[in-house]
Amino acid sequence: MCGIVGYIGNKNTKEILLSGLKELEYRGYDSAGIAVLQNDNFQSYKAIGKLVNLEEKTKNFITDNFAIGIGHTRWATHGKPTELNAHPHTGESSYVVHNGIIENYAKLKKELIADGVRFLSQTDTEVIVHQFEKNLKSTSTAFDAFSKTIKKLEGTYAILLVTKSEKESIFFAKHGSPMLVGTNSENEKYFASSDAPLIGQCNDVNYFEDGDYGYVNIDELTIFDINGEKKEPIFTKLSQNKLSAQKDGFRFFMEKEIYEQGDVIADTLMGRLNDKEIIFDELDDSLFDGINEIKLCACGTSYHSALSATYLFERYAKIKTSVEIASEFRYRKPIMSKDTLFVVISQSGETADTLETLKMAKKVGLKTLVICNVDNSSMVRLADTCILTRAGVEKGVASTKAFATQVTIFWMMSLYIAQRRDSLGTKEISRQISLIRAIPTSVKVKDSLHERIKRLSKRYLHGHGFFFIGRDIFFPLALEGALKLKEISYLHAEGYPSGEMKHGPIALADPELFTIALLPQHLLYEKSKSNVEELSARDSTICAISALEFDKADDFIKISSHQDYMLEFFEMMVVVQLLSLEISVRLGNDVDMPRNLAKSVTVE
Ligand code: AGP
Repeated sequence: MCGIVGYIGNKNTKEILLSGLKELEYRGYDSAGIAVLQNDNFQSYKAIGKLVNLEEKTKNFITDNFAIGIGHTRWATHGKPTELNAHPHTGESSYVVHNGIIENYAKLKKELIADGVRFLSQTDTEVIVHQFEKNLKSTSTAFDAFSKTIKKLEGTYAILLVTKSEKESIFFAKHGSPMLVGTNSENEKYFASSDAPLIGQCNDVNYFEDGDYGYVNIDELTIFDINGEKKEPIFTKLSQNKLSAQKDGFRFFMEKEIYEQGDVIADTLMGRLNDKEIIFDELDDSLFDGINEIKLCACGTSYHSALSATYLFERYAKIKTSVEIASEFRYRKPIMSKDTLFVVISQSGETADTLETLKMAKKVGLKTLVICNVDNSSMVRLADTCILTRAGVEKGVASTKAFATQVTIFWMMSLYIAQRRDSLGTKEISRQISLIRAIPTSVKVKDSLHERIKRLSKRYLHGHGFFFIGRDIFFPLALEGALKLKEISYLHAEGYPSGEMKHGPIALADPELFTIALLPQHLLYEKSKSNVEELSARDSTICAISALEFDKADDFIKISSHQDYMLEFFEMMVVVQLLSLEISVRLGNDVDMPRNLAKSVTVE
């Protein structure tokens, strides 16, 4: 998730921008930059890696009187983390920073190149500043050019733009990505993509709403709404607690990351589908040439998302698919054939076991693909090609939104491969795409659901263990739910195929055995239900998660009724994530930094 800052005032603009970006470091980034207009001159600096590199580059740059400035930390979604791809992006006399994804950037870029514009970067953002400067030639004011530019954009954005054509103003626009503006008694104006950079600088802030755009100068803040009607800012008091601000007011980063799964998945989908087809610009058409099998390899939560992919790939793409636990695969002298596409999955892109299996596959000449959340990571640099999940930084050690975006990518990939293998009719592909578009809604946390889980969690603080059970693709979800609980509550839990319970584990059935049963309405419901009834008949304590009432359960968590089992999957995912979080909270554990665990296991 990128970070944005902006400032208008007489203080040390460079220092204000850099310290603002430092407050946004927690969001994760791979490059950063600033642009400042003072004394009629623009100065812009960009650097890859940490902010200290940008500080080093700007150490001799003095900003000691009135200036306007913008700054940005970038989390790569389009284009590698390089200086050229870092923001701000520039035209001839303007600079822009942007959070979000411009979905129609390819079309705009093509038009601009046809007009003779020379692009320097691979990013979607750069089209904004060139489109603005194109519009400058046909409008009477810079703001008219900016308004015209915003109207052409599709997708999500938080934008700050500065230009020599209007030397005392910052232009802004917000749609789908957060941004706020603050002011203080000295009439300074501060922009940021979240609260933290404004704390200590200003007390009154206006949170922009989707569709807001306008301009600010030292004297005034002018906002227009999505219909082009002028609107008054609504100032509220800014909280002064930085850590709380970084968590956007949530108790834990993990909780914040569960709640932001809808927004994050919307980014994952952005530019990768239309009503008829799935599009992965990052994949070369030849990737699947000569491929008859897919082998997935990962660890932990990423292994669980990979396991879910085996169901989707074989069911929709009709391609033989298998999955391996990386730490096992690397030592069992596996047979690998050239017609296998080797796919590694990793949030961090640094997990030692997974990285080693990628090296093994490359060594024997297999085509390799990595599904990853961190551009420029070891696996991204090593694999033949990469699909970025765009989950943004995941601070909670227990993975949530990374898992959600991985499964989303796999559902899309199953259709993408089906398109190429003609294994699904166009009508079914379109139907599945309309379901995929509903994922963000299915993972939105309902207060009533969270409250129910919070209350219910008090009953599950002891006992001699948990089973999470599910059938088909709900088995990987059961594994994931069990892992979440283990990781942050330190209670023992096992994920198990529902149909396997009678082959031994049912011997454990008694009131102290807690079973979290995943009962999707649209996938093997009756089979799953009878497995749960076997346990209930032996007095196990059952917590059923389903859209359908289930009277044999001791506890019942009702989810929405969905059109398809995959949307049930995503809503049940949120339930098991929240259940583990609330049990951990009751046990007084460190939800974000559980004992013995690291966010990325870079050793064997
Ligand atoms: C997930 O909650 C755990 N933190 C852990 O299992 C993790 O998924 C595993 O270490 C793999 O990490 P990666 O996705 O970064 O490769």
